[in-house]
Amino acid sequence: MKNQLVIRGGRRLRGEITVAAAKNSVLPLIACCILSEQEIHIENCPAIADIFSMIDIIRSIGGDAQLQNGTLTVNCKHANPQLVSADLTGTIRSSVFVLGPILARFQYADISYPGGCEIGLRPIDLHIYGLKCLGVKVTEANGRILCDGKNRKGGFVNLDFPSVGATENIMMAGALGSGTTVIRNAAREPEIVDLQNFINFLGGKVSGAGTDVITVQGVQRLGGGVYKPMGDRIAAGTYMAAVACAGGAAYIRGAEPKHMHAVLEKLRRMGCEISEFERGVFITAEGRPRAVHKIETQPFPGFPTDMQPQITAVLSCADGTGCVVENMFESRFKYTAQLCKMGAKILVKDRVAVVKGVKKLSGAHVTAEDLRGGAALCVAALCADGETVIDGVRHIDRGYDAIENVLGALGADVTRV
Ligand code: UD1
Repeated sequence: MKNQLVIRGGRRLRGEITVAAAKNSVLPLIACCILSEQEIHIENCPAIADIFSMIDIIRSIGGDAQLQNGTLTVNCKHANPQLVSADLTGTIRSSVFVLGPILARFQYADISYPGGCEIGLRPIDLHIYGLKCLGVKVTEANGRILCDGKNRKGGFVNLDFPSVGATENIMMAGALGSGTTVIRNAAREPEIVDLQNFINFLGGKVSGAGTDVITVQGVQRLGGGVYKPMGDRIAAGTYMAAVACAGGAAYIRGAEPKHMHAVLEKLRRMGCEISEFERGVFITAEGRPRAVHKIETQPFPGFPTDMQPQITAVLSCADGTGCVVENMFESRFKYTAQLCKMGAKILVKDRVAVVKGVKKLSGAHVTAEDLRGGAALCVAALCADGETVIDGVRHIDRGYDAIENVLGALGADVTRV
């Protein structure tokens, strides 16, 4: 099926939208359901491709998962770890999250290396190292990871780098069974706090998330219930970048400002006025954005790498020159070639992009090659002269639930053909 977004730029945005639960929170939460034999309901779940891939993985191992009216119901009572399919785990990076929970519940796991990614190498050595620290015997051969967890117990894990995924995987691996797991130099992202809250809600014992030392006390079993995850700070940030580019005023509900301070600070310095509420922001952007001298991606609470492409799109039409440094992923500037097709003036050297703002971008035929890079093309198209046609929409659909409807609700002229 041909799938393109057609965006006619030049309309100011105005209105109210609400973002759903965070993709990067819900994905590990779904994997975490493997730890329990009871039914779990995850509310406010977005209908996006990455979630459907994770649902497929749960079903492929004999679990039950259904997304209906925004509530995802998962029941892994009959899960069988010997069924993990290489086809599925090979297509989605987040499949690595099933490793920790499968191991914790069944003392054994055999999965293929997780799917590739357009933004960099993304190794999983820290995940494997963490499991080994818990006494798991890991053998890697022919693209598969075989884990023997018969002697799994607690342990101390000192991460070389505060990897989000490795921290989450190790938390889940330690949540069931005897022993205490201590993760040092843990990632401090809000999604880690959400995972701690989820495990504790199910009856687990995790503390310290949000700091760099997390302690997980194993318990014998976890239960079920209804859980509402945190809102999507990256989706909210993307729509704020859209307003900053196109101009206008919008109330963006659903995500917490305390999860977005680094992004709010940059947008304010670019000239946006932002009021903060408990679960939302009101953003006003008048006139052309101002360039900020330097934006550097860092682990939380620094500027998130998942907002780097969208803020670069804003810089590309700002008044002045800004510099963007990508510290997290080595290939995360590919989308800039597409922005340049729209008239952006961006020079990329290794992990640095120098962005000389232009007065006007112009519509062009461009291709999304990864999720957030695709979102950046949408943001730029909103302020471009004329029509932008975006191919590769499947990448955008991985993380945004019908982006054309959300931008349309703010008055943008966006159609999917
Ligand atoms: C998660 C997010 C992703 C976000 C990233 C950084 C999810 C589903 N995805 O990805 O959207 O961009 O955090 O905020 O939550 N690394 C290693 N070895 C490992 C693991 C990671 O070297 O075993 C490196 C990576 O290559 C990368 C850095 O650590 O350079 C950060 O990766 P990590 O924090 O693990 O990101 P993900 O969990 O993959």
